[in-house]
Amino acid sequence: MSAGRLPCITMEVDVNSQLVFLPLALALLLAASAARAHGDVTPQAVDVSTLKPLGAQWRDENPYRKDKEAVRIGTSAYNQNCARCHGLEAVSGGIAPDLRKLDIDKETDQYYLASVRLGKVRNGAVYMPPYEGILSQEAIWAIKAYLETRREP
Ligand code: HEC
Repeated sequence: MSAGRLPCITMEVDVNSQLVFLPLALALLLAASAARAHGDVTPQAVDVSTLKPLGAQWRDENPYRKDKEAVRIGTSAYNQNCARCHGLEAVSGGIAPDLRKLDIDKETDQYYLASVRLGKVRNGAVYMPPYEGILSQEAIWAIKAYLETRREP
């Protein structure tokens, strides 16, 4: 449907005929919001089969720093799981911290890992959901590898 053509049609017919478009507009609106809500609640599976497997033991430092494949996977995993709060391309819109500020060192990696595994819950309020059991260790570090390419002091 070309929105640009609508004025031409409505000029030739009675103004009331515009009501015909109302159910269609409502249907589109509902479909769009349903799609968005769906994306919000469903954790996205991340295919990490092309990455070096890390095993069950949690690492205390990002094993994928500068790994191109990890950055590729981390980019899409970030977009699907984190961008809605932390912003597209990790540029925060102010709702959640700007993850480009995370340092690239062991200490920050440990803080990052704990934040993502446990989420951010204070006084019963969930500021960020926990990702342990939802994202694999590989996916979590791949996201960090992506964030390191977006680093801005
Ligand atoms: C529902 C929104 C939401 C989602 C989704 C979300 N976060 Fe967060 N995140 C937050 C908020 C809000 C905070 C700050 C919480 C606080 O005030 O303690 C935060 C904090 C963090 C922190 C600590 C940052 C700092 O500077 O202290 C890290 C790291 C982090 N998030 C990583 C992630 C990653 C990685 C993902 C995706 C796997 C993600 N978050 C998904 C909302 C979210």
